[in-house]
Amino acid sequence: MSKLTICDHPLIQHKLTFIRDKNTNTKDFRELVDEVSTLMAYEITRDLPLETIPVSTPVTEAQGKVISGRMLGIVPILRAGLGMVEGMLKLIPSAKVGHIGLFRDPETFVPVEYYVNLPTDATERLLIVIDPMLATGGSANAAIETLKQRGCTQIKLMCLIAAPEGVKAVQEAHPDVDVYIAALDECLNDHGYIVPGLGDAGDRMYGTK
Ligand code: PRP
Ligand code: URA
Repeated sequence: MSKLTICDHPLIQHKLTFIRDKNTNTKDFRELVDEVSTLMAYEITRDLPLETIPVSTPVTEAQGKVISGRMLGIVPILRAGLGMVEGMLKLIPSAKVGHIGLFRDPETFVPVEYYVNLPTDATERLLIVIDPMLATGGSANAAIETLKQRGCTQIKLMCLIAAPEGVKAVQEAHPDVDVYIAALDECLNDHGYIVPGLGDAGDRMYGTK
């Protein structure tokens, strides 16, 4: 079974409340998602391996720690995942970015893939799949499957809000993929929306509908 981490830092929880608020406008929604993504990037990179290198301080010779060559990739699920990319790149600026385009059929909730473009060396990287919403888990599972079909083996998933159904679906389908979320909500409603959730993440991010 993969690990589920709920990023419960007070700053994340505070900002998430305003992301949920239906009165938060598109500009503020984008800024808050960006900020929470940066804070969650801090958490998801916590176990990156370090190596020791010599460093000359103004005072003496010393040993310092640097991240040991682990190459990262960020893979947003379009559309809404795009809004999390810049926030993550603030902390991991040398990460490459791949894109997977998926939309959920509104009747069946089955994800439809329309675009895939990954870094050429994606198989050598630790890939972080990002999407604000983990509802049924269909989109996340399809994105992870797409990566695995192309030979990628090191994958993590980062979402802002998850339904228990979505977490279960990913953990069952991909027990090797650790999941990072900011909140585990109550359930899905009949339209496949997370309750209480934040509504339609793509629409709120881009002002559509
Ligand atoms: C939303 C969201 C996820 C997906 C989650 O995207 O951003 O990708 O739904 O639902 P699931 O876990 O049940 O698959 P949507 O399909 O609305 O596409 P969009 O981002 O292009 O609006
Ligand atoms: N997609 C969204 O954007 N919101 C939900 O609550 C569920 C799926």
